[in-house]
Amino acid sequence: MTNGLGRVITTLKDGWKFERGDMPDAASPDFDDSQWECVRVPHDWAITGPFDRENDIDVVAITEDGDTAARPQTGRTGGLPHVGKAWYRLKCDLPEDISTRRVRIEFDGVMSHSKVYCNGHYVDSWPFGYASFAFDLTPHVKPGENTLAVFVDNKPHASRWYPGAGIYRHVRLVTLAPVHVAHWGTCVTTPDIDETSATVKFRAEIACDSTTKVELETTFMDPDGNAVASITDSQDLSADGVFEQQVTLANPMLWSIDEPQRYCARSLVKVDGEVVDRYDTPFGIRSLLFSPDDGFQLNGERVPLNGVCMHHDLGPLGAAVNRAAIARQLTLLKEMGCNAIRTSHNPPAPELLELADEFGILIIEEAFDEWREKKCDNGYHTLFDEWAEKDLRAMIRRDRNHPCVIMWSLGNEVREQHKEEYDGRGVTKFLHDIAHDEDPTRPTTGGFNNPWGAIDNGVAGNVDVPGWNYQPRYYNRHRLRHPEWPVYGSETSSCTSSRGEYYFPVEDEKDVKRDSLHISSYDLSSPGWACCPDVSFAGVDDNPYVLGEFVWTGFDYLGEPTPYNTEWPSRSSYFGIIDLCGIPKSRFYLYQSRWADKETLHLVPHWTWPEREGETTPVHCYTSWKTVELFVNGVSQGKRSKHFKSMTNRYRVMWSGVKYAPGELKAVAYDDEGNVAKETLICTAGAPAGLHLEADRESIVADGDDMAFVTITVVDDKGNMCPRADNLVRFTVEGPAYIAAVGNGDQTSVDPFTVDWRKAFNGKCVVYLRSTPGASGGHITLKAEMAPQGQTSTIDLMAMCRGKEAR
Ligand code: GAL
Repeated sequence: MTNGLGRVITTLKDGWKFERGDMPDAASPDFDDSQWECVRVPHDWAITGPFDRENDIDVVAITEDGDTAARPQTGRTGGLPHVGKAWYRLKCDLPEDISTRRVRIEFDGVMSHSKVYCNGHYVDSWPFGYASFAFDLTPHVKPGENTLAVFVDNKPHASRWYPGAGIYRHVRLVTLAPVHVAHWGTCVTTPDIDETSATVKFRAEIACDSTTKVELETTFMDPDGNAVASITDSQDLSADGVFEQQVTLANPMLWSIDEPQRYCARSLVKVDGEVVDRYDTPFGIRSLLFSPDDGFQLNGERVPLNGVCMHHDLGPLGAAVNRAAIARQLTLLKEMGCNAIRTSHNPPAPELLELADEFGILIIEEAFDEWREKKCDNGYHTLFDEWAEKDLRAMIRRDRNHPCVIMWSLGNEVREQHKEEYDGRGVTKFLHDIAHDEDPTRPTTGGFNNPWGAIDNGVAGNVDVPGWNYQPRYYNRHRLRHPEWPVYGSETSSCTSSRGEYYFPVEDEKDVKRDSLHISSYDLSSPGWACCPDVSFAGVDDNPYVLGEFVWTGFDYLGEPTPYNTEWPSRSSYFGIIDLCGIPKSRFYLYQSRWADKETLHLVPHWTWPEREGETTPVHCYTSWKTVELFVNGVSQGKRSKHFKSMTNRYRVMWSGVKYAPGELKAVAYDDEGNVAKETLICTAGAPAGLHLEADRESIVADGDDMAFVTITVVDDKGNMCPRADNLVRFTVEGPAYIAAVGNGDQTSVDPFTVDWRKAFNGKCVVYLRSTPGASGGHITLKAEMAPQGQTSTIDLMAMCRGKEAR
């Protein structure tokens, strides 16, 4: 792909060879890799499995979870084979004139401890698996065939969750004229904004290695693509130089959550009047204010932070980045009313930020989960002293032009927060100063779960806006210590649940474990330090100065199967509001009823309980209305309203004495005048009789990357969902697409993700359908066949051609 004259960007996706292990001479151009696996990058070698309790098993006490003795933490990093060494090799052709050009390789992220070789020469290395980095290949390349080799080394006991393995983000080869915009070399800020104008300051670092007169012409384009201002400067450079340009734009179209409009600064670099580089810097015009009294304000208007924390994995796809899969996550989160994400606990893929800019989602971007004091034996503390500055600068330089980013988080629950050793105060100041050196416009933050310690030892005081993890009951106490600090919940709730599982009697559950290794979806369960969503809501509502909260977590993720950390085969988290394969759990509707501008009326649990006839089966309703009446087979169970004064009824409407009888469960919501506003109905399901297939889109792009997500629901002969069905479903695809993964959201399933079959979990499973690389467009048919009787259903999609450009 060419991004302008002079600059040629090639995304290196196809043609990679891959092998696990450490082979001597694997960097050499002559090495015989013909027996190696052919892979497409981004690639996560571990996601194909197999799952095994011994994979990265760590016998350790997780003190944050209250462990007092070491225990075998079986599913902590997902039970997948991500530990070990591996090699990637790629042959790529370069043109005859390459000796007159500059050549750079850019990695969005390699997990981890990567070493890069070109034509047998060692180039450089970057150990932190979440960092983006670039190396200069100019001295090593030649015209014709070149050999790139990347060595990866994943240590055991290096993470508290599934990290992924290998070249799991994109790689680009960039060739440039000798004079060009430096890597991540532009920075746009908008210091003064009012209704009629905005000042835009543009800074560009120009790479130059000879004495030359360089001209920089920057044109500013509004969100509709119209050029609205242009500025040209020239300088005599004999080495790298910096241009500072400034324009005033009239009637700025602001970036906001509802209207995420972006401008673009297009820079043309000219030498002797000839354009040698073109570089686009997308940016947004918006103002941020973090007030200790009036919350968070975007463009002068208060916006509650309705946020979630997210790890980087994409469920059954593992860590391998896919734009469509991230877009699907954001679509679901927006539908729930979520407007913010904390990228816990490390820098995300660049695609997440591009999409957050596009979707209007605010981002707190987090750098580290560990500083100098260890959480895991081979965690980031082993790198901190040598790499923290480079990694933090890399994160901020890459991402500082994204309007979605509102704060830089320097760390999560670093153990320095409650100790005097390791100089927590000094380290915080060191990181904070780096962040402000790279970007003085955004505050720094951190997530502290020991606020008293962090306040006392100066760690909290050395970030701009300290974040409190799991403190909904104590916001006021922290505020009394420092009334000048804005207050927000950087991590909240940590409610745990398994989609579609309900257990009786219904009660608040702390650290409850069951033989099923599942957790009830009445959404009242959590580990000791955590709470149900309702308590976190109250923390925000009762303290109007609070900016908002970031729920742990938006989606289930691989690893950290609390409370079943030592109970194999639990291998993925229970914290998600949405399950691992993207199906909303019941909690989704509780958040939606509070956060979204939507008419929500959702009943918990399902109504198919053959073994519970006549038994007390409480019903909860998550709704945007205040008053709801419940009917069982037409018999009213009473009208109930949310009550501000009662914690239990404040955010949900409940009927605790309902006796189960098969048939119909109906909820009728009333508006404030007492009129019927909406009804919802669930019917008792009969035996599984068929499958219902629903895709999240009608077409995908035939680019080898785009995906559709097809949800398969087991239904009875009347079309009712069978909420406890676990039938095996087999899939076949015709046309230019293939099954990239399957999933069902069951945290205890050790069935592989990369197969063409799946058992339904509580009535549902998902197929990740991906366009076939190299194929052209056409019709796609996915066929699903259910065991044991063999009922089939199909769904049709289109693969659309949109040129051959990589996305
Ligand atoms: C927090 C931690 C998260 C996750 C969570 C589970 O303390 O920051 O990474 O472990 O607990 O509740």
